[in-house]
Amino acid sequence: MATQTIGIIVNGATGRIGSTQHLANALVPIRDEGGLPVGDDRVVPRLMLAGRDAERLGALARKLNAEWTTDLDQALADPAFSVLFDAAATHLRQATLEKAVAAGKHIYSEKPVALSVERGLDLLRAMQARGLKHGAVEDKLSLPGLQKLKRLAASGALGRVVGFRIEFGWWVFDGTEVSCQRPSWNYQRKDGGGLILDMYPHWRYMIEGILGPMRRVVTALSTATPERIDERGARYAVDVEDTASSLVELESGAMGTILSSWATRVRRDDLLTFQIDGTKGSAIAGLHRCWTTSNAQTPKTAHFNITTDAGIDYRSHWSEFTESVSATNPYRVGWENFLRHLKAGTPMQADFAAGIRDVQFAQACYRSMKDATWINLAPPS
Ligand SMILES: NC(=O)c1ccc[n+]([C@@H]2O[C@H](COP(=O)([O-])OP(=O)(O)OC[C@H]3O[C@@H](n4cnc5c(N)ncnc54)[C@H](O)[C@@H]3O)[C@@H](O)[C@H]2O)c1
Repeated sequence: MATQTIGIIVNGATGRIGSTQHLANALVPIRDEGGLPVGDDRVVPRLMLAGRDAERLGALARKLNAEWTTDLDQALADPAFSVLFDAAATHLRQATLEKAVAAGKHIYSEKPVALSVERGLDLLRAMQARGLKHGAVEDKLSLPGLQKLKRLAASGALGRVVGFRIEFGWWVFDGTEVSCQRPSWNYQRKDGGGLILDMYPHWRYMIEGILGPMRRVVTALSTATPERIDERGARYAVDVEDTASSLVELESGAMGTILSSWATRVRRDDLLTFQIDGTKGSAIAGLHRCWTTSNAQTPKTAHFNITTDAGIDYRSHWSEFTESVSATNPYRVGWENFLRHLKAGTPMQADFAAGIRDVQFAQACYRSMKDATWINLAPPS
């Protein structure tokens, strides 16, 4: 078996998602296992960590046995590195990807891949004109819970899908009593913050990947926590939404709701739940587990009992769906798909165009709020 080394620049390497999921849980294990088998060969990542802070980069690079640089332009000029992966803060993405495309690098990008559909399409056209390969991180469908939900929905066991509900969120402290557990850039418009830009790209591929195309959306958003304290202890005004509610109509005619909030306390099965209701049954997934129920298990509820608590445990009518699914880290799944795409041309479902569709959904929700109307989700041409 021959080995082929692929040089990958990981920009934003010391960030939360870059250092943990993409490096420690995906690229480094692939490299240390001797590379990813693709056909008769093995593809071995060679890692160049890029970022701003030399001290943190050096320490991370030593730990992961990787190279590092604070000079992204120099790394982009190096022909030994043919791929640029971007996991830096969102507002920096466009400029980084533009430079990388100009340098002829294949692109793999965290979400959102662009700040608008138009700018994303510009990048896609530039990549296509240069024959560059591209991919977008769309990790959530590889979570065990969502793999199970997708399998149940595809099996027909739920019948005709009539509705769905996504609920997401937890309490994010503002920094006064307890320090804030998310980076402050997530709450500043100039830095690419905002719950919709952050989370709705995921909701797009989860919904369309399991239930098919969306037709239109209407969204309301609000800011529950108008002031926060940042990493340096400075008070700042939040100028983006931290709460959003959407109503989505699918091409099939089914309707769904999405409730997302950084200002809610969890009393549901998981931090993220996705329920699908169908004519034969329902299913609900969390990140790891999935439960289902059928018409035969559904209680024949006739009315409220307003005088006494009926004492019914509605969850007891559901059973856990325990079929085994892939346990591979979802970010590693994305990297394996992208490396196969690079090496063997295997189709990349989560390509940059898919990433732009994710951005389109987020952008439509902002427009819906601004114009107080439904927004059509026909794919951009
Ligand atoms: N796929 C997912 O589920 C998922 C989860 C979290 C984050 N993300 C995405 O990953 C990206 C990073 O998010 P994170 O939570 O890791 O953030 P983070 O703040 O932990 O990391 C951001 C990185 O960008 C760098 N950075 C920030 N400002 C910079 C500047 N002005 N110049 C140069 N570098 C700068 C930081 O040094 C750091 O390396 C975002 O685009 C986010 O949307 C995706």
